[in-house]
Formats: sequence, structure tokens, C-alpha cells
Amino acid sequence: MTKKLYISTYGCQMNVYDSARMADILSPLGYSLTPTPDHADMAILNTCHIREKASEKTFSELGRLRNKRRVKMEAGGGEMTIAVAGCVAQAEGAEIMKRAPYVNMVFGPQSYHKLPEMLAEAARGSGQILETDFPVEPKFDHLPDEAIDTNLSAFLTVQEGCDKFCAFCVVPYTRGAEFSRSTTEIINEAKRMIAGGTREITLLGQNVNAYHGLGTDDQSHSLAELISQLSELDGLERLRYTTSHPLEMTEELCQAHRDIDILMPYLHLPVQAGSDKILEAMNRRHTGDEYRRIIEKLRTYRPDLALSGDFIVGFPGETEQDFEDTMQLIRDVNYAQAYSFKYSPRPGTPAAAQEAQMIPEEVKSERLARLQALLNEQQLAYNRSFEGKTVPVLLEREGKREGQLIGRSPYMQSVYVQSPTHRIGRVADVIIDEGNANSLRGTLKSSSSENAA
Ligand code: SAH
Ligand code: SF4
Ligand code: F3S
Repeated sequence: MTKKLYISTYGCQMNVYDSARMADILSPLGYSLTPTPDHADMAILNTCHIREKASEKTFSELGRLRNKRRVKMEAGGGEMTIAVAGCVAQAEGAEIMKRAPYVNMVFGPQSYHKLPEMLAEAARGSGQILETDFPVEPKFDHLPDEAIDTNLSAFLTVQEGCDKFCAFCVVPYTRGAEFSRSTTEIINEAKRMIAGGTREITLLGQNVNAYHGLGTDDQSHSLAELISQLSELDGLERLRYTTSHPLEMTEELCQAHRDIDILMPYLHLPVQAGSDKILEAMNRRHTGDEYRRIIEKLRTYRPDLALSGDFIVGFPGETEQDFEDTMQLIRDVNYAQAYSFKYSPRPGTPAAAQEAQMIPEEVKSERLARLQALLNEQQLAYNRSFEGKTVPVLLEREGKREGQLIGRSPYMQSVYVQSPTHRIGRVADVIIDEGNANSLRGTLKSSSSENAA
């Protein structure tokens, strides 16, 4: 009998990857995914702890699930197992069990391979189950080989955890120490994805460019080497990686952007701030100018590289001049797109203890608005600069409008184009008619061959 599995995913792409693996693990037990929690036999919240707002969602979502369960049971639909996974589970497991005693199981990002055992335990009526240890054996050793569904564009986690300990960040505590999967394991997983129809793979890691996995030769291999090996795989059209730390942007990796065709000209390289004083207080371990030099070098190797970043405004002690330094760095780099956040104090992180230095909420909001205005201006100008140009677009899915497909440019822009659906999965040349704030609109180039890959 098939059972319905609902998974709600918050946070970063690593959580998206983990959610897909949880579905894979539960599939042999008869669970298949359902898009709403209404009739679910099992509901998993895969949570994010990165900022207060993200983390708070856990409890409101749990309340909603509890109601759904009540309605389902009253209608004679049977039980619903409620589970909390991910980074809030790791950071606040005991607290969740206390505040939400109706939750059946709580497990961290490194323990979900134990789901079948946990379900068996729950079936024996053992009460609430908490799994937040960091296991000695990595979860990857226990994931099933067969994925239940593959996407045209898919994520593949190659590295996990973080040893950088930026002063604001919970990731080293929620995901644990840095760990790299072996090249063999990754290449096999990539081959399975490609066989299932994947054309674009994004290699994931909290510090993906710190990757140093073992190869068949028992030697450690860098991300650049891994990318080079993956680029040899037949049928793979595009490779990307995220998220990188400036300290690990090695010469070899910069050169990969010049030398490896299928490595897309897009890089997400967070800098967080432009003031050296704040960068030091954040424990980022590089200066603004060092970051600028990395960007310059990358652009000599790959002049059309599109840059993306993350910014935090209102870090404890940030003066107006510090903030101006961030604005100046943004002007100097010129981003194709970026993410920006107000600093959010996180329990247990060093920065959260600097109470005397906290920036008032209204100052943070005002700075964020100015910063986002600049970033939006850059993004729009960037997208407009494509008008009239032809770009290869990987057509991924149908859009909302009749006959419309949505795909991505090499530079990560969403591209809307009128096209027959049989072109989904192919890379087509598109002439850009319009560059908008968040996307491009274009027309299929008539010469682009029907048989193009
Ligand atoms: N590993 C990645 C980022 C992981 S978190 C890296 O090192 O870049 C994603 C982004 O969330 C961070 O880049 C940062 O900009 C933001 N972030 C993390 N902790 C935060 C906090 N306490 N308050 C506000 N933003 C935060
Ligand atoms: Fe967090 Fe810094 Fe590690 Fe990124 S590098 S995950 S921001 S501690
Ligand atoms: Fe959030 Fe955990 Fe990712 S805190 S950003 S889900 S690593």
C-alpha cells in the first residue's frame, strides 16, 4: 500500500538535496511524495536556522501540521507522523520536543539515513524520538543508489559542514565539521543522475571550494580536479558549484573557469561586508581588497563571469563609514545578482554576545534598503545589457503562459521564451528581447537546430 509523504523544505540548496534523499530513503517503505500535507501519512519539516525569521517558521508550520493531522484523523484518515529535520532540529531538538510534544521525531541533517529505524521505533510506540548526534559514519554511506526522480537541473552535495566559524553563523554548529565525499561516490551519483535525464549539475557544499575528497588513487582531490573529471561525463551539459568562500578560490579553480567549457560562467562568492574592520570582526579572514583581487583575476580568466554575493548589514559595531565601504565594494565589483540580509543574532555564536555593539533595527532596515537599491540597479543594468544578444538557454519547464518555456542562461538568469514543449531538456539559442529586473524574455533563434543537444 502506498503511503503519502509530505516534505516542506526551508533554507539552502543543501536542504533541497537532503529532502530529495529523504524521499529516496522512504520510497522502498512505500512512501510517495504528495504536494500538500492534507492527507499525508508522514509530514517532514526540513528546517533552517540561519536567521531568526527562518527559524521561527518552524513552530508556526508545526502548529499548522498539527491541525491538518487532527482534521485527517477526525475524517477517519488515520495517523500522521510529524517529523522535524534540518538545522533547527539540530540546534533546538530538545526545545522542539518540549514546545511541541505532538511531534513524533526530531533529527538533524546528518542523521536522516536512520529514518527507517526511527519509523520502526515510532511504530513500536516508543514516544518521541530525538536523533541529533553527529554519526561517525557519514550519512552518504547509507543513502540508496536509486533516486526516485531526477531533474534536468539537479543538486549534488559533495561537501558538507564548515570549519570557518564566521562570528555570525550557525552552520558550523548545525552541520558539523567539514567533510568531503569521495570522487568515486560523486561521479557514480552524477552518472546515475545523467542516466535519469539530468543535464545540469550544481555541486553543493557549505564551503564547496574547500572540497578535498579522496580519489581512487587514495589521494585527496580539489574541487577543480573534481570538476575536470565530471566534465568528461557524456551527456552532462552544464556544471555549477555553490557556495564558495573567498579564501579557497585557488588559482587552479580560477583557471577552471577559463579551461572547462561546461563550467558555467557564474560564481556565487559571498563577501558579507566591505569594511576590513567588520570583515575581521566577522572572522572572514580576508580584506576587501583581497576579495577585489580575486574577482579581478577571475575576470581576466573569464571576462563574462557573472558574480553573485551575500551581504549582511548591521553587523555589531557597523558604523555608517563601514556600511559605505560595503557600498563601495559593491560598486567596484558590479554584481549580476546578490542576496542581502539584516544581521540576525543567533544563539551560541560569538557575534550574538556583543550586545553593547548591536545596531538598532531601524538603522539596519534603512541600510538594507539602500544596499538593495544599489544591487537591484546593478542587476537590472546587467539584465538589460543582454538585449539583442543571443544566449544558449537550457530549457527546463513550461511557464504559466500558453506555449511558454522557462530556462536558464549560463549566467543563472531565468529566461522566458515561446517554444514547443518537445524542446524541454535541450540547450537552445535565444535572442534576448527584454532584460527585466528578475528575468530575461527572448525568442528562439530559428537557426537553432532541432537536434541540438
Ligand atoms: N557557506 C556560505 C553561506 C551560508 S549561510 C558562505 O560562507 O558564504 C548563507 C548566507 O546567510 C550567508 O552568506 C550570510 O550572508 C547569511 N547569514 C548567515 N548568518 C547570518 C546571520 N546571523 N544574520 C544574517 N545573515 C546571515
Ligand atoms: Fe557560515 Fe562562514 Fe561557514 Fe559560510 S563560511 S557556512 S558563513 S561559518
Ligand atoms: Fe539554513 Fe542549515 Fe542551510 S541553517 S542555510 S538549512 S545549512
